[in-house]
Amino acid sequence: MKKGFIFDLDGVIVDTAKYHYLAWQKLAHELGFEFTKQQNELFKGVSRKRCLEILLDIGNVNATQQQFDHWMITKNEDYLEYIEKMDASEILPDVPKVLEYLKQNDIPIALGSASKNAQPILEKVGLLPYFNTIVDGNNVTKAKPDPEVFLLAAKQLGVNASNCVVFEDAVAGVQAANAAKMVSIGIGDDNILSEAKFNFADFTEISTSFIQQLIEK
Ligand code: BG6
Ligand code: MG
Repeated sequence: MKKGFIFDLDGVIVDTAKYHYLAWQKLAHELGFEFTKQQNELFKGVSRKRCLEILLDIGNVNATQQQFDHWMITKNEDYLEYIEKMDASEILPDVPKVLEYLKQNDIPIALGSASKNAQPILEKVGLLPYFNTIVDGNNVTKAKPDPEVFLLAAKQLGVNASNCVVFEDAVAGVQAANAAKMVSIGIGDDNILSEAKFNFADFTEISTSFIQQLIEK
């Protein structure tokens, strides 16, 4: 059976969660309230629009549509300033090892991300050539935990959903992979990602023999 591997971006391939956090925190400060790292956990895997809705709830801020649209833009502009400076040093440890192993074994690879900035980030860090297809926030209408993003990625890879493996750092992402009937691999805290089929703290814990087992299964 032909297998496909799908990677989330933020928090799996690169640690951009810290930049999203800094940009949201700046907006929160401008609006006069605190936004903690713990609250930022709620933002993982969540669309930009939904993040702003949650942020405004946290700060008890009522926004007009015009203000809402303006803050969506300014947050992204601030985020892009961080992205602009990114390079290969920001790839999370051992991610290239796994991508390279898959490539050498002719296994198709997709990106399945909620971000609308996915492609420029992959370009910046030099990983774009590994990906056979990219499905991101620009291509889907339903956010994770809906499986749309991963089902579309499987379709574009030409692989049955049940033959796909997904790497995710967000609870909503693990749920989306499970809903798509894919093998979910949680990257991060296994207490938070307890719904994943397999759990690893990061890619340094993933051996190529484990990847080989997933390919052969
Ligand atoms: C997800 C991140 O990958 O992308 C979220 O985990 C983020 O935190 C979402 O809000 C949307 O990203 P962007 O780049 O389109 O604002
Ligand atoms: Mg993520």
